[in-house]
Amino acid sequence: MVANWKMNPDRQTDAVALALAVADGVVGIDAEVVLCPPTIWLLAVAAAVGPRIGIGAQTVNPAPRGAFTGETSATMLEGLAAYVIVGHSERRGAGETDGLVARQAVSVRAHGMVPIVAVGETADERTAGHTLAVVFRQLGTVLDVLAADHGPLVVAYEPVWAIGSGTPATGADAQAVAAALRGELRSHARGLADDSRILYGGSVTAANAHEFFGQLDIDGALVGGASLEAETFIALARAAG
Ligand code: PGA
Repeated sequence: MVANWKMNPDRQTDAVALALAVADGVVGIDAEVVLCPPTIWLLAVAAAVGPRIGIGAQTVNPAPRGAFTGETSATMLEGLAAYVIVGHSERRGAGETDGLVARQAVSVRAHGMVPIVAVGETADERTAGHTLAVVFRQLGTVLDVLAADHGPLVVAYEPVWAIGSGTPATGADAQAVAAALRGELRSHARGLADDSRILYGGSVTAANAHEFFGQLDIDGALVGGASLEAETFIALARAAG
């Protein structure tokens, strides 16, 4: 269960309080829980809850260091985060390309963290029947550049039209894409399909989560809006467990 807080909350005290409430609430729940706070709150959140729950970053710059104003490298995140989201549609929409996302995944892996590779089609791509072509291209670009022994990935299927819209995919549609993504992982390396986890993301709430968690190829969720309220996110983690 991955919480993507995006650019929330505003204050460090609120970020730490939310993280502590989640950490206390998920004790005894049989689900791995990962919080992805804004970069500026990573250190405080990690100090407050680590290693009780996992910490993830929301993005990374793949360059080792240098003149990249405002950016954060994988070297800087190493030791602080176990996961890094790469390719979120909000960042692809701001100009990140498949190639950049692939380089991000490589740098995350090289620093011992696990990339959470976000893939998903827009509404127009879906209408045109291109969903699988789009997600295969997005995942394939990453798989092509990772070393053969790169270890398991997390792949998050997040239809762009479902993110923050209140209109999630149906469980059956999400399962169909998740199964296809697992097939892609299997054709790359058999062990990769078994060891990697596939999440669904896009308007997941406590009310609809069971639709997704009941699906064979959906191992969890990447949650935005519903991760900002501790009780709701704990209920989601409980449902996942
Ligand atoms: P949402 O966001 O749960 O608010 O739809 C999910 C995401 O963008 O990861």
